[in-house]
Amino acid sequence: MKIIKNTVLLLMLVLPVTISAETDTTETAESTPPPPATVEEIAAGVCAGCHNADGNSVIPMNPILAGQHAEYITKQLMDFKASDSNPPMRNSPVMSSMVAALSAEDMEKLGEYYAKQKTNPSSIPADEKIVDTGKILYHGGNIGNGVPACASCHGPNGSGIPPRYPALAGQHAEYTITQLNLFNTGDRANDNDVMHKVITRMSGQEKRAVAAYISTMR
Ligand code: HEC
Ligand code: HEC
Repeated sequence: MKIIKNTVLLLMLVLPVTISAETDTTETAESTPPPPATVEEIAAGVCAGCHNADGNSVIPMNPILAGQHAEYITKQLMDFKASDSNPPMRNSPVMSSMVAALSAEDMEKLGEYYAKQKTNPSSIPADEKIVDTGKILYHGGNIGNGVPACASCHGPNGSGIPPRYPALAGQHAEYTITQLNLFNTGDRANDNDVMHKVITRMSGQEKRAVAAYISTMR
């Protein structure tokens, strides 16, 4: 009992000293850097953690931006941003916080910046068993369930048709599937429901197949 009492007393004496000693050592004068001025700095700074500085994300759930059409990137950035009393057109808590501080001019320049970068397509191995099914769907659709050919809007080689239809070739399959599911449920509707109509009759297996094929397109 006496030992415990003594220990408590000792701790009470020692603790305040160690705490103040710690706060002293952490008080190093670190000046905060000025906010980034150029889009290159924005891309290499805040965006790089998820998309890489050149927009070639290697994380399967984050889209590759390199080589995407400038107008499309700019539109997506605008759509992620909430305006006055309106919620964002494209719902993504992560991206909405990223664009909150960007001006319309920043978004335009970021579009031009990523469009200029050389695409480094997804190197995540595609599920070979379903790639062939995906290829047929992409180029010919499925007359049986009324799914139109992706190629008619996104181009035979997946390079898209600017400004409206994005490039898809080489995109990570995981990101593509996520988008197809969001279009399907209507959680992503910033395309005037075009994609919702396209894939509403697509099966889960067909979505996985087409996404796998897209990741292999060069
Ligand atoms: C914490 C990770 C993270 C950071 C940092 C981040 N992004 Fe993203 N970004 C994402 C994710 C995840 C998505 C997919 C969002 C979705 O569909 O739900 C995305 C989507 C996008 C898209 C849409 C691409 C397409 O093909 O539709 C653009 C454009 C984009 N980001 C640009 C940026 C820019 C510019 C910055 C820096 C200002 C940035 N991102 C910072 C994670 C991030
Ligand atoms: C009738 C034209 C049309 C057809 C056919 C079409 N799409 Fe699209 N797709 C669009 C439009 C328009 C958008 C752009 C949405 C926006 O502005 O945000 C889009 C966007 C997408 C995106 C989002 C890309 C990104 O980076 O955010 C994916 C993925 C996609 N389409 C996949 C497909 C697949 C797979 C097929 C075939 C099953 C297909 N599309 C067929 C018109 C079409």
